[in-house]
Amino acid sequence: MSRWLDDALFYEIYPQSFCDSNGDGIGDINGIISKLDYIHSLGCNAIWMNPCYDSPFVDAGYDVRDYYKVAPRYGTNDDIRRLCEEIHSRSMHILLDLVPGHTSDQCSWFRESQKHDRNEYTDRYIWTDTVWEDVGGIVNVMGLTRGGTERNGAYLTNFFNAQPALNYGFADPDPDRPWQQGINEPGPRGTVEAMKDVMRFWLSLGCDGFRVDMAGSLIKADPDQSANIRLWQEFRAFLDAEYPDAVMVSEWAQPDKSLLAGFHMDFLLHFGPSHYMDLFRTETPYFSREGKGSLKQFFDLYMDNMNKTRAGGGMMCIPSGNHDMVRISRFLDPEELKLAFAFILSMPGVPFIYYGDEIGMKYVEDLVSVEGGYERTGSRSPMAFDCGKNAGFSAADPGDLYIRQDDSRSTVNVEYEERDERSVLNEVRRLTAFRKAHPALHNRSDFEMVYCEDHKYPLAFIRKSDEESMLVIFNPSSEDASLDFDLPEKYDIVYRAGRIRDDSVLDESCFSMSDKKDASGMFPAESAIFIRII
Ligand code: NOJ
Repeated sequence: MSRWLDDALFYEIYPQSFCDSNGDGIGDINGIISKLDYIHSLGCNAIWMNPCYDSPFVDAGYDVRDYYKVAPRYGTNDDIRRLCEEIHSRSMHILLDLVPGHTSDQCSWFRESQKHDRNEYTDRYIWTDTVWEDVGGIVNVMGLTRGGTERNGAYLTNFFNAQPALNYGFADPDPDRPWQQGINEPGPRGTVEAMKDVMRFWLSLGCDGFRVDMAGSLIKADPDQSANIRLWQEFRAFLDAEYPDAVMVSEWAQPDKSLLAGFHMDFLLHFGPSHYMDLFRTETPYFSREGKGSLKQFFDLYMDNMNKTRAGGGMMCIPSGNHDMVRISRFLDPEELKLAFAFILSMPGVPFIYYGDEIGMKYVEDLVSVEGGYERTGSRSPMAFDCGKNAGFSAADPGDLYIRQDDSRSTVNVEYEERDERSVLNEVRRLTAFRKAHPALHNRSDFEMVYCEDHKYPLAFIRKSDEESMLVIFNPSSEDASLDFDLPEKYDIVYRAGRIRDDSVLDESCFSMSDKKDASGMFPAESAIFIRII
């Protein structure tokens, strides 16, 4: 079954920007295959790849033109098959990105749907009865586009204008608006079956499941999302019958709903309301030397969501970043980044490393938007592997790269970082190996908060499995911080990160805290420590 998630550690690949094997300036599948050993060497055993399907790329591929075809710029369907095989031969897994809520306005389904005469696709999208109708205020309806079509109607859109919403029906159709179809009408049913076919196609080609884009918003006018939950339960039942091992991860941000709907995990720290940005991505993040941040609101919500997630049998996902977020290195320097990774890789659930974060790749400032990226563009620049041309990403002329690379690529790249024992990359590798070696830190092991107060340092928590308990303490601030903790007689310091790693004086101050029972000690600045309680 999907037990492999229990020790999964993901690497997110934005295919445009990972590795270009044919010198056209854009990443491709063969490039990814050539770097699988590198990904494996990080300790990652799973990959989530952003959409790789044929698309006009108005939204970086989240506008699918042909669900059944890999975008030619990335390669062929056979290349994907080979990618899956190569991944499996390394005992790794891969999730593709499923975009079920909308297509590109260039998708042949939509072109057919625009026609005046009825056809198989007339009800595949959500069209009003006349082009003049307005539809404000319906739950899960993001936009409306009118004009330019032969058909007399306006169509609902999901994200950008070029992404018409597929028709899964309305949970509570307005009787005065007959174009709002019920979820059991033939149009919505046709969409559901079409999406099952899409899933069948890629699962049979070899992928291990999907990260599902905007999963909670397929059915419109569904305020409590009960109809969306039932829809996904139907998809899960179909998978259980035909592809029981298929893993499904939702972009939904409500684990009590998404796990009930049949997803194994839910992305929820990826969004502002989770306060995840308070950790690494504000002007004064908690994980910075300034020491002015707070984790209180983050953990209040986190604990609630973690409990809901566990109750649903799932696991939290904890990302270093993703293709929609500003890169983690924008606010943190390399030393701060190491502590940030020590945190990400000591938390419960499934960590996701966004390509390039493991070397502290920079957010590229002041870029003109590429493929609907807008401010996200700076987080999507090409990976830096070595000190050569285009940092080993591509043999193309630098001006032809998909997105301009950051100027620091001659020193921020894999080759350079590999040579330096103290680099972010080597710290990440040590941390993933350490996590793997210690059951207390495994994905499903318990989490108990020890100390987390508003605007206070340090942060301390315990991870626990049947085999061992681990006290983890973080003080990213530049001031030593006091912590009262009743340490047992026997303990073992098993990992240190930050200044405590190489400063023996600070080492001693930490020991003085822990030498006595009921001790109150100063926990050293800019440090993290993992204490195994025996
Ligand atoms: C979420 C994806 O992560 C984002 O990149 C995309 O633009 C929207 N969904 C629309 O599909």
